Amino acid sequence: MKKQKIAFELTVFENFHELSSEEQNLMTSARSARKKAYAPYSSFQVGAAVLLENGEIITGNNQENASYPSGLCAERVAVFYAGANFPNVPIKAIAISATSKHHVVDQPAAPCGNCRQAISEYEVKQKQPIKILMMGETGQILKCNAMSDILPLAFNSTYLN
Ligand code: THU
Repeated sequence: MKKQKIAFELTVFENFHELSSEEQNLMTSARSARKKAYAPYSSFQVGAAVLLENGEIITGNNQENASYPSGLCAERVAVFYAGANFPNVPIKAIAISATSKHHVVDQPAAPCGNCRQAISEYEVKQKQPIKILMMGETGQILKCNAMSDILPLAFNSTYLN
């Protein structure tokens, strides 16, 4: 028997200006996308921006539904659009930003478990890591180098073969 520890690198930015210009641009797209979120039930508006290897930026935001589980998170709206329209172009990074009509979101918006699984699928498919940039409305910004870092031991297609 042995015990293993899993570690990963998390970059913590104290403010927006510490990001590279490419990262700033992507986060600006996520922040702008969240303004168009359809979130009448939670009033929690999330924006996601996906950077493709060809330089294209795809945005999405959360789309809620009166039948709550029928809604979809911002991250999946964006990555599914990318998968549907640019199936052969690898995804380099995704930026996420959230705001609320009820309080100031001052901590980075981390993707939910379902979104981690969905994004992980593309990482396995393209055999290249997808960087994750997370922020709230204000406060620190976090960066992970790969979805596999924050979804270790993920279920993937290798189990089905
Ligand atoms: N939401 C996202 O869009 N992304 C996440 O990763 C977490 C949650 C949305 C879903 C719902 O519309 C609202 O935030 C509150 O959960």
